[in-house]
Amino acid sequence: MGKKILVLTGSPLRGGNSDLLADALIRGAQASGHTAVKFEAGIKKIGGCTACDRCWEDGHACIEKDDFHELEPLLESCDVMVFCAPVYWMGFPAQMKAAIDKLYAYGGKGGLRPLAVKESALLLCGGDPTAPEYDYVSQGYQMIIEYLGWKDKGIVWQGGANETGSIAPAALQKAESLGKSL
Ligand SMILES: Cc1cc2nc3c(=O)[nH]c(=O)nc-3n(C[C@H](O)[C@H](O)[C@H](O)COP(=O)(O)O)c2cc1C
Repeated sequence: MGKKILVLTGSPLRGGNSDLLADALIRGAQASGHTAVKFEAGIKKIGGCTACDRCWEDGHACIEKDDFHELEPLLESCDVMVFCAPVYWMGFPAQMKAAIDKLYAYGGKGGLRPLAVKESALLLCGGDPTAPEYDYVSQGYQMIIEYLGWKDKGIVWQGGANETGSIAPAALQKAESLGKSL
């Protein structure tokens, strides 16, 4: 049976380099019989966690009335979660980090309501051709999923992509192969 894959993207640029990586992974996943949905955290409006510790108080993971409410059912129904982002200042873009911070409602201290997600993958791009930030962001991702108890299925990163649409075709192929292998 096919898996349900959620691709959480972090770029505010629809059709940008990381978006192309996401689409390539989705093509591969669909070719293997999986279903895949993309949630564009970089375009949605999600505020940062306010540490109010009022998760689930009104039935939602987060009591703030923002677009995280749209993400909640997708998180709660997927088997695999893929993080896909451009590197911003050596890390994830703030819009995506806000969504990640709100995973606290599911797996933070106190283990509120663990997700059924079992596996995960990471797609990254950036302007610098080869630089420590890809390792740095990958390590952060590894620590996040280890904390959540998810298994890494693969990481694809591509540097040298400063202009929109300049993502290397080889990276798109790697992302598609990763999607197929999920
Ligand atoms: C605010 C900002 C910060 C960035 N920081 C980095 C960085 O730390 N390292 C890097 O290699 N590229 C950095 N970049 C370049 C982007 O990662 C790169 O252009 C990427 O391909 C954009 O992907 P997108 O088209 O999916 O948005 C930055 C771009 C912006 C707008």
